[in-house]
Order: sequence, then C-alpha cells, then structure tokens
Amino acid sequence: MHDAIAILDFGSQTTQLVARRIREAHVYCELFPWNTPAERVLSLSPRGFILSGGPASVYEQSAPPLPPYVLESEQPVLGICYGMQLLAHALGGEVTPAARREYGPAQVKLVGETRASHLLDPLQEHAQVWMSHGDQVKRLPAGFIALARSANGSVAAMGDPQRRLYGVQFHPEVAHTPAGAEVLRRFAISTCGCAPTWTPAAFIEEAVADIGATVGEKRVVCGLSGGVDSAVTATLVHRAVGDRLDCIFVNTGMLRRGEPEEVVRTFRDQLGMELVAVDATELFLSALAGVTDPEQKRRIIGEQFIRVFEREAERLGAVDFLAQGTLYPDVIESAAPDRPDARRIKTHHNVGGLPQRMRLKLVEPLRYLFKDEVRAVGETLGLPEAVVWRQPFPGPGLAVRVLDEVTWERLETLRAADSIMLEELEQAGLLRGETQQAFAVLLPVRTVGVMGDGRTYGYVVALRAVTTDDFMTADWARLDPDLLARVSNRIVNEVAHVNRVVYDITSKPPATIEWE
Ligand code: XMP
Repeated sequence: MHDAIAILDFGSQTTQLVARRIREAHVYCELFPWNTPAERVLSLSPRGFILSGGPASVYEQSAPPLPPYVLESEQPVLGICYGMQLLAHALGGEVTPAARREYGPAQVKLVGETRASHLLDPLQEHAQVWMSHGDQVKRLPAGFIALARSANGSVAAMGDPQRRLYGVQFHPEVAHTPAGAEVLRRFAISTCGCAPTWTPAAFIEEAVADIGATVGEKRVVCGLSGGVDSAVTATLVHRAVGDRLDCIFVNTGMLRRGEPEEVVRTFRDQLGMELVAVDATELFLSALAGVTDPEQKRRIIGEQFIRVFEREAERLGAVDFLAQGTLYPDVIESAAPDRPDARRIKTHHNVGGLPQRMRLKLVEPLRYLFKDEVRAVGETLGLPEAVVWRQPFPGPGLAVRVLDEVTWERLETLRAADSIMLEELEQAGLLRGETQQAFAVLLPVRTVGVMGDGRTYGYVVALRAVTTDDFMTADWARLDPDLLARVSNRIVNEVAHVNRVVYDITSKPPATIEWE
C-alpha cells in the first residue's frame, strides 16, 4: 500500500495533469469526481487532498460544495483555482467576482509571510504562472495569510501553515507555470509526508502478484495490436501466468509498413510469448469494399475484428480471462458523465462487447496508469524501445487515413508515403516526445503536375504531425521546412501515383487529429 493523495475533480480541463504531476513525483494518487461517496475516497486512506479547478462560482446556487470529510480528516489540503475559492468560502472567507477576468500567463509576487510555509519556495520572488479565473478571494478566512499576490494586488496564494491548508489561484499543473510541478511535489512529499514509493518497479511487482492471484490456474487471452498498451499488458500477464497466456494478433491489412512482421518478431521470437498471428487482410478488404462513410468503416472494422478474435479464442479452447490495456484516462472519463467526451465525435473501437459475448472476465492491469507511466513500466520491463515509444495508432488503422473507399492499391500507396514520413522524422529524432502523433493521409483527390517534360495527374498526400498533452486538444507541429521539403521530395519521387504533398496546419479543435 502506497501513501496516497486524493484529488477531487470539480470539472477543470487540467485535473488529469494534476494527477500526472503528483505521479511524476512518485507519489500515488487517484482522481475522484467531487461527488464520489466519502467511503470510496477515504478507502484510499489519503494523506492529503487536492481540490481541482472548475468552471463554477462558489456563490452560485448550483456550485459543487466542499465535501465535509475533507476538512474533518485534518489532513493537508491544496485548493487550486476554484478549489482555493471553495476552501476560502467554506472557512468563512469572502469570494467575489474579479473586476477583470484573468486568463493566460501572469506574474505573481511572493509576499513577506511566505516564509511561514515552504510550499512556494520553488517560485522565484516574481514568478510566471498560468491563470484562468473570474473570481477572487477578497477576504482571507481566519488563520490564513497571503503567500503571493497578483500584479493587481489580489490574493494569488494563501495558506494556513498550522492546519496545513493551502490555496493557489494559478494552475501549478500546467507547463506554463514552470515551477508548478515542484510546488505539487512539495505538497505531496513535504506537506503531506507521502513517501515517494510509486515507481515502475514497485508497480510491476504488485501488478504481477495481483494478476497471479486473480487468474489462479486459469487461462488468459490478450489481443496484441503492436502498440505500447497491449504490449505492456501482455508482458505483465506473461510474467504472472507464463504460457497460460495466449496472445492474438490480427493483421487487418490496415497496418503500417513492416508492422505485422515486427509484432511477430518482437513477441514470439524476442519475448517468447505464445502468439497466434492471423492474417485477415482479405476478410477486412472485402467487408470494406465500396464503403466510403468514415463511421461505417469504423463499425465494419470493429465487427470483423471481434469476429476474428472470437473465432481464434474459441479455437484455442477454454479461456476465462481477457487481458486489456485500458488506461486511467478511459476509466476517469467513463466515471465523469458530465465531461464533454471528445471520443463521441468518432466511434472508437477496441474489443468492447467481446467480454460479455464470450463470458470472459477482464484483467486490466493498467487501469490506474497514465500513458507516460505505461511507457516507464515498458522500459523497466525491458520491452524494445520501438514498442515503448510507438506513437498511438487508431484501432481502424489506415482505413481512416485512406479517405473514401479503401482498396489494397491505396493502402500500399499510403504505406509507402507514411513510411517515408516516419523514417525522416525518426532520423530527426522527432517521434519520441517532440511530436505525439505523425502520419500521412491519402486524399481521394487528383491534381495536375509536371515531371520531366510530361504532365502527371496524381494523388495528393497530406502530412499531419501534432503536439498534444492528452489528444483531446492538439496543435500542429512546427516542423522544420527543410525536413518537410525532404519528406515531400522523397514521396513524389519514390511513391507511384502521388504528385503533390501538403502539410496540415489545423489545430484540434476545430479539426480532429485524424482526417476521418
Ligand atoms: P481524433 O482524430 O479524434 O483522435 O482527434 C484522437 C486520438 O484518438 C485516435 N483515434 C482512434 N483510436 N479508434 C481508436 O482506437 C478510432 O476509431 C480512433 N479515431 C481516432 C487518434 O489516432 C488520436 O490518437
């Protein structure tokens, strides 16, 4: 059991980042919607609470209140933005609308009394922070002192060091508050006294023991996609149950160049897992023939995938468990019904529906991990770098990147262009952290070009590269023009039927990351 922090979510867009910063400090934390039953939150035995930001105003009738158990626990509390106002309001301070809404980068000034607490030590005397609020704490509650003030003099941070209650008006969890991560680390470790024991090695040990206890002597099946989540899931389960794990890899024909061979090489040859590799290309292509609607393509692929998986699992014989690489953000999002769920914009498919149909119980060892933690666990498990650092790839694969009807020729054209893009980005060191997703898209549009002395009439390839923290919003990557020129040259020279390359300079929103 690790020392833990409970984060209560009041609806801010950046609450998950708070959790990630705490985990980066090797302290375990969980995120709960603010109205989670007290017993559920307290079962974590939290050594401290963080109250997130949120869109409400504390003086509105419908504003989410501070659950009483937080102060009753007498554990340290850190309120962020709305969380700070809530704390001030609950303890008899006064919160009012600010004369002017503060949004974006701002400077705060530490004030004299700061020394009474070391929480804000990581901040410079004049520190850059990120603000996003319309209300302010006008009068501090009894026992509190101001720790920092905004340029306009309003309270930017407050604290009652004796009771270990703190509030910051700014957002320490975002990158635009450079010293923010350190403030959160201090809160967890110094103020709450949490031991930094949440490490990949500790997680692996506990997860393996846990899977072993759950599965007992039964058999497990796991779908491998080639991505990091399913790879880490399978490796953990393999450590726990050995050859009682069967992995199924379905080649849908919609994968990138070289991917099917690499999955087999890695998991069967290198890691020694029982791997059933099914080439279902023909099946998927014929099911997709003549289909142009993006959502229908997704549905068809989802259905065919389940059908193939089910058939293979049945062929393997009695299986009781299905291992899945569900991550913490999915768990959080499904627990928060009032959060706008970007995923409704597109029908996502994984192996949903399969567990009930096959009467399988789920093993989800990653359901409390963020993606960056999964990568750290993958590295500690000794998985190949290429797997650990693979960028996310959509379940329907290249079917949503070949716009319009999917045919084998179009897939091959796209694979050729895409592999050039990835090769050049890899060489420039841009696939691990600098861009979160980069790929090519084949447009169903032909344009006129000239090559040598002749006219060409070929297809257009669009390049997409984005930077993002959580894939809910994204910005287009400012790639070096020389790099783009190299990719473009190589594509029109090396890929038949393509005579034009464009670069997508749209952010999300209003566009999405994928084109379909
Ligand atoms: P969008 O295009 O909605 O994508 O901005 C956000 C992230 O989700 C991935 N994506 C999918 N993943 N099935 C998946 O498993 C899908 O149908 C699907 N559509 C988009 C996308 O690659 C990006 O990482």
